[in-house]
Amino acid sequence: MSAPAVEVRQLVKSYGSRRAVDEVSWSLAAGRLLALLGTNGAGKTTTIETCEGFRRPDAGSVRVLGLDPIADSRALRPRVGVMLQDGVGGYTAARAAELLELFAGYARHPLDARWLLERVGLAEVARTPVKRLSGGEQQRLSLALALVGRPELVFLDEPTTGMDPRARRTTWELIRQLRSDGVTVVLTTHYLDEAEELADDVIVMNAGRIVAQGSPSELTRGGTAEGRITFTAPPGLPLSDLVAALPGTARAQETAPGQYLITAPVTPDLLAAVTTWCARRNVLAEGLNVGRRSLEDVFLSLTSTTTDEVAADLETAPATSRRRAAR
Ligand SMILES: Nc1ncnc2c1ncn2[C@@H]1O[C@H](COP(=O)(O)OP(=O)(O)OP(=O)(O)O)[C@@H](O)[C@H]1O
Ligand SMILES: [Mg+2]
Repeated sequence: MSAPAVEVRQLVKSYGSRRAVDEVSWSLAAGRLLALLGTNGAGKTTTIETCEGFRRPDAGSVRVLGLDPIADSRALRPRVGVMLQDGVGGYTAARAAELLELFAGYARHPLDARWLLERVGLAEVARTPVKRLSGGEQQRLSLALALVGRPELVFLDEPTTGMDPRARRTTWELIRQLRSDGVTVVLTTHYLDEAEELADDVIVMNAGRIVAQGSPSELTRGGTAEGRITFTAPPGLPLSDLVAALPGTARAQETAPGQYLITAPVTPDLLAAVTTWCARRNVLAEGLNVGRRSLEDVFLSLTSTTTDEVAADLETAPATSRRRAAR
């Protein structure tokens, strides 16, 4: 097997006494796409910026294309594309096209800057100073800057944050194109549909640690609650009666008035039992949907302890810290 494109081993990075990344290890084979997910402050950007050579590990190590991101930064620069979470802030006086051409000039075999501007939907604002671009336009430019040098590996920190739905789709296409050209991609995102759509591998981080890892389908298949049935019906259905009528171990919840969720391994028998139960009560189950758990369900359940702990802390906290926590 060839060496991984990125290898993070026992990485630790602290700010003061706080461990932003706490002994994290993972590796990514060349040509694959990894989505790093996690709550705000989980340590995604810190991990990525260490891989980019912008931060030095306190302990552990990072290898990128077999090299050290800090010691070998010169060798890596032309091979690695970087899209920072902060965007293109440092270059605000230049115009969009100028900046892209400047970056293209550093590369040995750059993409055509005009073509790329067109591709990310910035042709119309090519002559606009970067600081005047809208938030989503700056984001697209930032993506174009990461890609113009035809890198072998790209790090995209929240590439589609702030983009409108159409721009997000275009970006997904571009990223898929990169994948099919054999480029290795590491991205972070808070859009779980994005991870589900694009990623080969997913890592979920929480408070500096990895809490889950696998392909999107492995993650959504795991656990006891493999599937879900949802439907809309009049509010207040007797759920314990429904559960008693269902085969196996199913859970039923009214998630909002008239919105029902049944969580269980979904079988044809289960579905038939639900609709039979409804028919006996002359209840029309509208919008009936049978599906597997989404990555969002998994994410929420993996990161929910923190939220519960915060809620518990708030209940016992004195009023002043409660106000602080609520801000
Ligand atoms: N330069 C710094 N000085 C002090 N603390 C920092 C610094 N950079 C990051 N942190 C802290 O480290 C933790 C991890 O931050 P990081 O930016 O890696 O999170 P993230 O997972 O990228 O979050 P988000 O989803 O909000 O972008 C946070 O608690 C953050 O406040
Ligand atoms: Mg971040």
